[in-house]
Amino acid sequence: MSSKQPLRVGMVGIGFMGRTHSNAFRQVSQFFDLPRRPVLQAICARSEGPVQAFAENWGYASHETDWRKLVARDDIDLIDIASPNDTHLDIALAAAAAGKMVMCEKPLGRSAAESLQMVEAVEKAGVANMVWYNYRRVPAVTLAKQLIDEGKLGKIFHYRAKFLQDWTISKDLPQGGAGLWRLDKSVAGSGVTGDLLAHCIDTAMWLNGGITEVSAMTETFIKERTHTLTGAVQPVTIDDASAFLARFDNGSLATFEATRYARGHKALYTLEINGEKASIAWDLHDLHRLQYFDHSESGRTRGWHNVHITDGDHPYMKHWWVPGLQIGYEHTFIHQAADFIAALDGGAAASPTFREGLATDRVTDAVLASAESRRWESVTG
Ligand SMILES: NC(=O)c1ccc[n+]([C@@H]2O[C@H](COP(=O)([O-])OP(=O)(O)OC[C@H]3O[C@@H](n4cnc5c(N)ncnc54)[C@H](O)[C@@H]3O)[C@@H](O)[C@H]2O)c1
Repeated sequence: MSSKQPLRVGMVGIGFMGRTHSNAFRQVSQFFDLPRRPVLQAICARSEGPVQAFAENWGYASHETDWRKLVARDDIDLIDIASPNDTHLDIALAAAAAGKMVMCEKPLGRSAAESLQMVEAVEKAGVANMVWYNYRRVPAVTLAKQLIDEGKLGKIFHYRAKFLQDWTISKDLPQGGAGLWRLDKSVAGSGVTGDLLAHCIDTAMWLNGGITEVSAMTETFIKERTHTLTGAVQPVTIDDASAFLARFDNGSLATFEATRYARGHKALYTLEINGEKASIAWDLHDLHRLQYFDHSESGRTRGWHNVHITDGDHPYMKHWWVPGLQIGYEHTFIHQAADFIAALDGGAAASPTFREGLATDRVTDAVLASAESRRWESVTG
């Protein structure tokens, strides 16, 4: 038995993110030396059979079928919200009121108005909080942040990001219900803007500072789909595709694009940054590599470097195997859990906090407003 103080986790959701988070909290103490040791205290989902099976599979000490009971328990320190977007607000408000730490999946709220309530609740309660924008913790992306902060790129002119998928092209795909809640605006808040572009925006603002104004277009290619819960054919009100131009505080220009209609692409998140002295490019399908072009190199051999991010002096990598051996997607969640726990006893909150999640939601709100108004919209707040 560890002598470290336990961090008793109560998690909501047993889907995709319930698995990545459970895996992260199970593994993190084995690879990172942290002040507190996570304990999988309780898992929550609405149906008894699946949640019990999940608890047994992942080693949770107990399970609940009502998140209100989970939040009310006095043997839980941290509520981790890994359920659909329409549940985030109520669970976070209740968790903060109960004095629990709160971690929440992205997007924080279905709108900036919801997110603001969540920020005010955790700040009033004075509880640790974090949003799971995990792509910041891909070692190659973290290295990009270090290089930018060290001034290696100089003045930044351009930021370019895309997140491309192709899983909703079939008109026969229903909307709503388990697995398809992302197509139901009342649950998701928006389509690819809040789902995929939110990731791109969070990374962009972390790397390149605040976004001041946007000009966007969105499209819903399939106008009606059968709703899984009602059986009726209903209008589709989410954005299937979303693209926007943006200006950053630092004067740089950006283009962002996300879609679920890019045939052949499953989760192609790419970003490129062009500065006066150097450029950086990264691709989620090759996540352990960073492309780097340094203009100060000798002209005859100057070119794009393909840096394999696996060495001990690369971010996070000393915690893993030996140089040359790469890690993957699931490790980004382990890194995020590690940083959250490390910050608990150290003063500064681990980023992104709920307040940073709100900043992203203010940009996605402006994107949707611009698509509607067909004008440039300022990012407010
Ligand atoms: N960080 C990322 O890269 C990333 C990736 C995927 C999803 N997400 C976010 O994670 C969240 C969950 O997405 P997912 O893909 O895991 O969804 P999912 O559909 O795979 O799983 C959702 C889970 O929540 C449970 N649930 C739904 N309503 C509930 C309620 N009222 N009480 C308790 N449990 C409830 C469902 O039973 C299910 O187990 C969303 O906010 C989504 O945007 C983030």
